[in-house]
Amino acid sequence: MFTDIAPRYDALNHLMSLGADRGWRRRAVRVLQREGRPLDMLDLACGTGDLSLALQKALPEGSRITGADFSEGMLAVMREKLARKGLEDKMPLVQADAAALPFPEASFDAVTVAFGIRNFPDREQALREIQRVLRPGGILVILELSEPENRLLKACYRLYFRHILPFIGGLISGNRAAYKYLPDSVGRFPGRKEWMGIMQRQGFEALSHKALSLGLCRLYSGRRPNHSK
Ligand SMILES: C[S@@+](CC[C@H](N)C(=O)[O-])C[C@H]1O[C@@H](n2cnc3c(N)ncnc32)[C@H](O)[C@@H]1O
Repeated sequence: MFTDIAPRYDALNHLMSLGADRGWRRRAVRVLQREGRPLDMLDLACGTGDLSLALQKALPEGSRITGADFSEGMLAVMREKLARKGLEDKMPLVQADAAALPFPEASFDAVTVAFGIRNFPDREQALREIQRVLRPGGILVILELSEPENRLLKACYRLYFRHILPFIGGLISGNRAAYKYLPDSVGRFPGRKEWMGIMQRQGFEALSHKALSLGLCRLYSGRRPNHSK
C-alpha cells in the first residue's frame, strides 16, 4: 500500500493535515536539537524523508542520519529527493522491517519514528528492536496521529477523516482504500496512557508526552536506560 501511494504521498500528507504535518515534525526536531551535540541517528519508517531532511538541516554539524523503511517505493522517492539536494552520499538509506532492524546493538544516539509506528504489526517487538539499537541513555522520539479527546472535535475529525479525506485521497492517489486505512489505523492505535505504559514495559524511561494541535498529533519520547547493557 505504501509503495502504491509513494509518488503522491507528500502532497497528500500536506493536504490531509492541512499543512500541519511540517510543524509537527519541527516539534520532534526541536527535541533532538536539545540533545545539544552531533547525533548518530536512525529515522525509522522514514518514508519519503521529510523528517530525515528536517533533521539533517537542524542538527549540529557532524550529525549523521540513517533512513530506514520497508517500502522500496517510499525509499525510491526519498532517494530522488536526496539526489536533487546533492545529499545522496550523506544519508544512508536502508530497506528494513522495524521488527528486525539490521543494525548492531547500541548503534545510535537517537531514533525517530514519525507517523510510522501505528502501522507496525508488532509494535512491542519494534520497541525492543529500537531499544536494542539505541546506545544507553539514547532517546526515542515518536510522532503519531491521534483522535482528539474533545467530543466536538472528535466528531469533526471523524467527518473529515472517515468521509471527506478518503474521497479526496482516492481521487488524487487512485487508492481510496489507503485513505480509509488511515483513520481506521489511527482509531486502533492505543491512547496516550496505554501507549506510555507499553513504552515503559518495553524498558523506556524518562517518558514524556505532548499533545499537538489539540491532540490531532502526539509527540512521545523515552530513553534507553543508562544502566542497560
Ligand atoms: C505514514 S508514512 C510516514 C513517513 C515519514 N516518517 C513521514 O514523516 O512522512 C509510514 C511509513 O512507515 C513505513 N512502515 C510501515 N510499516 C513498517 C515496518 N514494519 N518497518 C519499517 N517501515 C514501515 C511505511 O513504508 C511508510 O513509509
